[in-house]
Amino acid sequence: MKILITGGTNGMGKGVAKVLAGIDNQVHEIIILGRSEKLGKDVIKELAHTVSNKKISFILCDLTKLSDVKNAILEIKNKHDFLDGIFINAGLGYASKRVETVDGLDSHFQVNYLSQFMLTLNLLSLLEKSLNGGRIIFNVTEKGKIFWDDLQMMHKWNYEDGIQQAMVAKRMFLAKLHRLYRERKDLKLSFIGFQIHEIVWSNQLNIIPTFMRIMATIMKSLGRFISIEKCGEIMTPLFTENKEDSLKKSGKLITWKKNSFINIKEDLNVLEQELQDRLWKISLELCADEKTNHIAMNLYN
Ligand SMILES: NC(=O)c1ccc[n+]([C@@H]2O[C@H](COP(=O)([O-])OP(=O)(O)OC[C@H]3O[C@@H](n4cnc5c(N)ncnc54)[C@H](OP(=O)(O)O)[C@@H]3O)[C@@H](O)[C@H]2O)c1
Repeated sequence: MKILITGGTNGMGKGVAKVLAGIDNQVHEIIILGRSEKLGKDVIKELAHTVSNKKISFILCDLTKLSDVKNAILEIKNKHDFLDGIFINAGLGYASKRVETVDGLDSHFQVNYLSQFMLTLNLLSLLEKSLNGGRIIFNVTEKGKIFWDDLQMMHKWNYEDGIQQAMVAKRMFLAKLHRLYRERKDLKLSFIGFQIHEIVWSNQLNIIPTFMRIMATIMKSLGRFISIEKCGEIMTPLFTENKEDSLKKSGKLITWKKNSFINIKEDLNVLEQELQDRLWKISLELCADEKTNHIAMNLYN
């Protein structure tokens, strides 16, 4: 399988990259997309050394910039004829204040959702060329709501609402992609929302304030966290399973319980087509990119 992982330089993304790189006689090829060239090189070196997988590459892309996303799309398309899977994972976590991106958007909204909306739409054509059933796994949680009157959270901001709004946006996006492909009677691709069942001990622990880190360390000693490698072990079957098993999960929000994947009941607002269409339209307007708009329009035909 050839899998693109956004945010594969740390945390859950790195956990999935590490496990995928080491299994099945190192047959899987992994493309890591990240904002730090140094971290990218470090991961490639680490995986070549620890699991002897040399088929790991890096695409530099800062998701706070739509111009970077456009360059990354070009680079991926120049280097690859197909993809078997994408892990939509990169995300900002804790922040002490609202940060606006160069594109004038709330950074959680852009990094965790909008830039990856644009990336996904532009890479669907590569996934459609997969011989193994192209799939996109979205790293999501079940909570949150969309602040329709203040999407960029200019009037009332806190980082948790920012993260959770992006989670809902990703779930609406995957539900809409699932619907569009099924309306076209096209059963090529799967779009799956996955919620990890435990908190993962990720790089976020190095970013949060000291008092939060102390609390987290206490919780860790009580066994309340899982490692990025454990997270990778749980998630890798979603990337390697056969097309039929992947298609059965498409359009669903799932999690891991008692050693199997189970469905979570999706919020009715997320499944509301009118709301999905509203967010889709706003997202395309914010991308302001002719090519992305063209791809989106063609999905209706
Ligand atoms: N940890 C959990 O328990 C948990 C639970 C549910 C969902 N999640 C979600 O999982 C995702 C990953 O989080 P994590 O906990 O694994 O955190 P993490 O260790 O901080 O990893 C986040 C990844 O996203 C990348 N990233 C951040 N900003 C970026 C940007 N502007 N451009 C490109 N890449 C960027 C980071 O790059 P750098 O390596 O350069 O920092 C890193 O690779 C997030 O969407 C989070 O909300 C986490």
